[in-house]
Amino acid sequence: MRVVSCSSFGPLSELTVEERPSPPLPPGCLRIGVTAAGVNFVDGLFVQGKYQIKPPLPFVPGNEVAGEVLEVGEGVTGVVVGERVFASVGLGGFASEVVVDARRVLRTPAQLTDGQAATFVQSYATAWFALQHRARMSAGATVLVLGAGGGVGLAAVDVGRLMGLRVLAAASTAGKRAAAAERGAVATIDTSGEDVKERARALAGELVPGSTGVDAVYDPVGGDLAEAALRSLGENGQYLVVGFASGRIPQLPANQVLLRNRRVVGVDWGAWAARHTVDNAAMIVEILTAVEQGELRPVEPTPYPLEDAARAMEDQLERRVTGKTVLVP
Ligand SMILES: NC(=O)c1ccc[n+]([C@@H]2O[C@H](COP(=O)([O-])OP(=O)(O)OC[C@H]3O[C@@H](n4cnc5c(N)ncnc54)[C@H](OP(=O)(O)O)[C@@H]3O)[C@@H](O)[C@H]2O)c1
Repeated sequence: MRVVSCSSFGPLSELTVEERPSPPLPPGCLRIGVTAAGVNFVDGLFVQGKYQIKPPLPFVPGNEVAGEVLEVGEGVTGVVVGERVFASVGLGGFASEVVVDARRVLRTPAQLTDGQAATFVQSYATAWFALQHRARMSAGATVLVLGAGGGVGLAAVDVGRLMGLRVLAAASTAGKRAAAAERGAVATIDTSGEDVKERARALAGELVPGSTGVDAVYDPVGGDLAEAALRSLGENGQYLVVGFASGRIPQLPANQVLLRNRRVVGVDWGAWAARHTVDNAAMIVEILTAVEQGELRPVEPTPYPLEDAARAMEDQLERRVTGKTVLVP
């Protein structure tokens, strides 16, 4: 099997692609032939040693995979060789094969390509958890999504539309804004030129006459946009802290939280999922059901060969990606 190997924390260009023997298949596990490995923002941070968790070296990055079952381990029932499946494996996904506990594996719905199956769980679970579980938003409310052309941003646009929210999508390029509009954003904001606070407030006023601003901000970006977005919130508005793709953790002024009785709400889906496995499994089933019914439409990712893992991660960290990317072993 081929794997992308990280043997020291550092530049992405130091990653190597290696041939390795296939690992043995323990009882209770499946061997999956990977046809698509989803690239997430944290993968690039892991490799550079910039994430709070540092895996022991050497390691194979990659959490999300899709493909087909190559071999069924002892004791596993209800799955046959050749079935299309997807899984979150933690690490080791940037490989032509993975061995994974069968309990972590789900059947790929007919509605999804392998690329979509390898890229939607983390993004959609984050968006769903943020908008439904953390913010408890109701139909008709307005949400300003920052980084709306990125992975978790675009998923929030799609989930928000499904919930009946009025989604304002903020992104830096016309391509990213078009992708968000195509997923159901009712209006877009150009973060490279427009005043985000003024424009978001004006749009909220047009959509809901009398409104004092947007009802929620969904922020996976942080940095300079954060304060303007916070100031665009109306009465009882919620600021959802999702991530810091800009590389800068914003310092939010407390007076702006006090004004209009706003709230700042943390969103840590990964930690919640690890502690509440049953609730998380139920949430993933809800998301999958919406996908199967055609109510959610995960984006088709841009494919890169496994050998181009470094370029795929670099393109993402340099904000050149609209939607998602996958490695195709
Ligand atoms: N809280 C959670 O549970 C959770 C779960 C998953 C991911 N996350 C976090 O969410 C963040 C976004 O993840 P993602 O998958 O959506 O990433 P992504 O697909 O790369 O999108 C991030 C967006 O951030 C914007 N951005 C602004 N400045 C940037 C910079 N200097 N470098 C890169 N991007 C920049 C870009 O949009 P514009 O070009 O439009 O500005 C980009 O499209 C990451 O920090 C990730 O770790 C959090």
